[in-house]
Amino acid sequence: MLSREQNDMLTQTDAGTPMGEYFRRFWQPVALVEELREADGPPVRINIMGQELVGFRDTKGEIGVLDARCPHRGAHLFFGRNEECGLRCVYHGWKFDRHGNALDLPNVAADSNLHKTVRTRSYPVREAGEIIWAYLGPAASKLPDGKLPEPPMLEFTRVSDSHRYVTKQRFDCNWAQIIEGDLDTGHFSFLHMPAPSVTSAHHTHSQADEQRLRWMRDDPMPQFDVLEHEAGFVAAAARVADGQKYWRMTQFLLPTHGTGPSTLPGETYHGFTIVPISDTSCWCYVYSWNPDRPLGEEERAKLDAGFALVCERDENYLPVRNVDNDFLIDRDEQNHRTFTGVKGLAEQDSMIQHSQGPILDRTKEVLTETDTAVVRFRTKMLKGASDLANGEEPVAPSLHHLFTARPGSWLASADMTVDDVMQARFGDPLGRVRDG
Ligand code: FES
Ligand SMILES: [Fe+2]
Repeated sequence: MLSREQNDMLTQTDAGTPMGEYFRRFWQPVALVEELREADGPPVRINIMGQELVGFRDTKGEIGVLDARCPHRGAHLFFGRNEECGLRCVYHGWKFDRHGNALDLPNVAADSNLHKTVRTRSYPVREAGEIIWAYLGPAASKLPDGKLPEPPMLEFTRVSDSHRYVTKQRFDCNWAQIIEGDLDTGHFSFLHMPAPSVTSAHHTHSQADEQRLRWMRDDPMPQFDVLEHEAGFVAAAARVADGQKYWRMTQFLLPTHGTGPSTLPGETYHGFTIVPISDTSCWCYVYSWNPDRPLGEEERAKLDAGFALVCERDENYLPVRNVDNDFLIDRDEQNHRTFTGVKGLAEQDSMIQHSQGPILDRTKEVLTETDTAVVRFRTKMLKGASDLANGEEPVAPSLHHLFTARPGSWLASADMTVDDVMQARFGDPLGRVRDG
């Protein structure tokens, strides 16, 4: 349970708020590369953390991210012309390059000082993992070591295009309850289960899946271990499984990266990164990657249609089953086939996270042992934000190597500790992938 003040601090990310300033120390995803593929193509609106920005790819193929409002009289540059290495406001023709320099101010006298002083704010940009990332924090000169961090080295950004799938989806609730839903891996025992009346004869899971489902159904109270490090933590949950233990390990990486915990060695990994749009909406960038092989056509088609962490979406990346249509809950399906009556694992998560309200009221909860990782997440985020508010810069943004980490599951003998299991599953105490 949090106090009202703590809940506000956790959930609010506009500029000037403690969490908003903390978020701005980290690179944020602002668009998919596919949205800005073409040089001199149409600009895109980028609304994140209460800020209105505009993105464009200039004539040379370089990306610019600028404040959306033209400094003259505030026209939105989304309607601007992307021409000859700059974005021109169509109201009176002011034009800016990707660094925010004014290239042309047609309604300003030639001898005016404005030609020297007018500029607009631009933000550092990188492309990694088919995502465009921007840095909205202070200038390098204001950071302790005098340089900007680089974007996080998440493993999906380091494999070739053929080995990954990347997209995004919009949610209409606060960002933090989505992360908490991912860390609370105990909910699988209910939320993602077949209806209690369904026997194996009636559905199509493989025998291995069937076994995993049974372990999860039979033990709704997994035991959690949290392995903390400077850039996040591993949340490991162990269930009793026919005299052994079935472990599911998920990675939380600061400030908003999460993963799916079910992957076995050789299978495809799934993860996501959230960026708030406002305090009651966010973009969730979702990705799947397989370090060992390219993703096949069939696997891609499945992801396109909504699979694993990906919702079924329309051409604007809006989920088809969403809060406005009650996630198309089918009560007959709920009675006879699935526990929720909602189609899709990602939609089942989304349904329940939206149902907690636009901003979950954490002053009114009754938490249990299975909320261990959720509590640790809140503590870590609140500490990061308040330390920064007290002048202590976070170290995580520059610890890139700690972000190359895998989630996954493992069946282990009952006496193995979490450290043994991490070693057995990943060959590393924190699931990190060594360079090589
Ligand atoms: S408002 Fe953009 S040029 Fe006037
Ligand atoms: Fe879930």
